[in-house]
Amino acid sequence: MPDTDILACPLDQSPLKRVGNTWVCAENHSFDRARQGYINLLPVQFKRSKDPGDSKAMVQARRTFLHRGHYQPISDALSAAITELPFGDRSTDSNPISILDAGCGEGYYLNRLKESIGSEAGWNLLGLDISKWAVLAAAKSDPNLLWLVGTNAHLPIQAHRLDALLCLFGFPVYTEFERALKPGGYLIQLDPGPEHLIELRQALYERLEPFKTGNEPAMACISRQSIRYQTTLASAAAIADLIQMTPHAFRAPPDAIERLTSKDILELTVDVQMVVYQTPH
Ligand SMILES: C[S@@+](CC[C@H](N)C(=O)[O-])C[C@H]1O[C@@H](n2cnc3c(N)ncnc32)[C@H](O)[C@@H]1O
Ligand SMILES: [Zn+2]
Repeated sequence: MPDTDILACPLDQSPLKRVGNTWVCAENHSFDRARQGYINLLPVQFKRSKDPGDSKAMVQARRTFLHRGHYQPISDALSAAITELPFGDRSTDSNPISILDAGCGEGYYLNRLKESIGSEAGWNLLGLDISKWAVLAAAKSDPNLLWLVGTNAHLPIQAHRLDALLCLFGFPVYTEFERALKPGGYLIQLDPGPEHLIELRQALYERLEPFKTGNEPAMACISRQSIRYQTTLASAAAIADLIQMTPHAFRAPPDAIERLTSKDILELTVDVQMVVYQTPH
């Protein structure tokens, strides 16, 4: 079982203590470990719906799509960026390097990071998602990492305990990210660039929405990298998985979806921005 020392109660942020398969705070709020290995740290009052986050079908489609390797160059660039970061003085700090993937989906990027590091020794890798389906899939993929159901809006992490936080195609809550990061900790954010999956969008919509950049945190930006390449979806099933894992599945006109999923090849541009921010020391 990975290290749970940095966990906090999502209701009052006080440290959680492990008692068997339950984690309890000083106020006696308690959270259980599910049979499948993840810890449920999402109290009902933080749920906006009965089944928040990505649905089971979206999670399955994303898992199949990612395991076909279409985003492997992104995960390679991400793992390289993380392993090259200077993480304080490891000769005086014997704690493992704690990294939280906030909105981890089915855990693809955290698993790839673990593979590139070679072992978990010296690292404490945590994945959190609001979708129970995503965390279930993640817990199945690697039971040795710490998988949490929770929300970015109330991270179940004690103040200033993370060395790095990943927000990958996710929903950043910068006040929470800054609270959870150590001084000098890193936020690594991946977001679609202007040309990302443009061929898919052109096939689905008559007019494309102008490209919008998201909000930026009040942290120093230390690097900005564009990851651009072409990939080929070589079957109707692969095209259907890509649509299913995005909001286009319920936003795009059904006849356009039908036309596109009757094709058996789609050339795609991948265009992603990776930005690394750092909190003040
Ligand atoms: C576009 S997916 C990206 C998943 C993963 N990072 C990846 O790139 O494969 C966005 C994820 O954010 C999760 N999510 C949505 N709202 C969230 C919240 N408030 N806190 C944590 N995760 C959330 C969804 O369930 C979904 O898994
Ligand atoms: Zn509590």
